[in-house]
Amino acid sequence: MNSEHFPEHPDEQPIKPPGTCLQAQALVIGAGSAIAGALIHELIHQHSVSGIVAVSRQSPEPAGLPQDTRDVPVSYLNCDYSADAISAVAGHINGAFSHVFICTGVLHNDHIKPEKRIEDIDAGQMAELLHINSILPALWLQALLPVLKNSPRCVLTVFSARVGSISDNHKGGWYSYRASKAALNMIVKTAAVEYARRAPGIKLLAFHPGTVDTLLSRPFQKNVAAEKLFTPEFVAQQLLTICAALPLDAEASYLDWAGEPINW
Ligand SMILES: NC(=O)c1ccc[n+]([C@@H]2O[C@H](COP(=O)([O-])OP(=O)(O)OC[C@H]3O[C@@H](n4cnc5c(N)ncnc54)[C@H](OP(=O)(O)O)[C@@H]3O)[C@@H](O)[C@H]2O)c1
Repeated sequence: MNSEHFPEHPDEQPIKPPGTCLQAQALVIGAGSAIAGALIHELIHQHSVSGIVAVSRQSPEPAGLPQDTRDVPVSYLNCDYSADAISAVAGHINGAFSHVFICTGVLHNDHIKPEKRIEDIDAGQMAELLHINSILPALWLQALLPVLKNSPRCVLTVFSARVGSISDNHKGGWYSYRASKAALNMIVKTAAVEYARRAPGIKLLAFHPGTVDTLLSRPFQKNVAAEKLFTPEFVAQQLLTICAALPLDAEASYLDWAGEPINW
């Protein structure tokens, strides 16, 4: 196991990029997500990166993630997702990256349920979802720009959702989650303009994974047809295939699990 916890002291040595081969690394943020775990396993299986840096609030590393990867070392970093901790993580990673995945996102927790009707809106709960789902990815995009600007080809995937599409909203409900993913989409679109100028090797992708069998979707799976409920492993494979084919076109893309565009 190559497990490194985030250094407490800023003068500690920066973490060296794992692996020294010509391939670049992957950075997986929110490694405790079931889809993130599947991505880590798939990246190791495909041998498509020289090493993986996995970031999570959970310490030690989230359960079920690889313990011993001789060919593709995994470094685990603990981060509480405060602005200071995010910029400190960014300051301690270096080298070229080919993949970044921002997998964090919350739909419900012990005190938040998606709103069914307008009367259910609660200011505190809405602010919490906006903070986790929109503001934290924005802070990562901000902190990672200097790290990524020299990577020659990297797809930075931010996990969005189809319900973040303003034009595709026919069913209503889920005010906070929808609003937080719509705001996230706008942040990705806006950042793509600046990344195109300042880090032209980076392609930004707002990704809808479909309905995936994880803790996030579990309370809402009963009306989902079996063939429409994906495993994290399937979605990880789809996403890596999509990333490999995406052009560096200086624009953000908003794609679903099949690689089909979604209207913003
Ligand atoms: N599952 C679906 O059907 C589905 C559908 C559409 C979109 N998505 C999106 O896909 C992404 C991954 O979802 P998942 O289904 O894999 O979810 P999951 O297994 O429930 O993982 C939750 C993720 O959110 C992070 N997280 C949880 N609480 C947090 C908090 N209070 N503050 C900051 N981060 C927090 C976790 O990070 P740690 O590693 O730090 O714990 C982890 O990365 C999310 O953005 C979600 O919105 C999922």
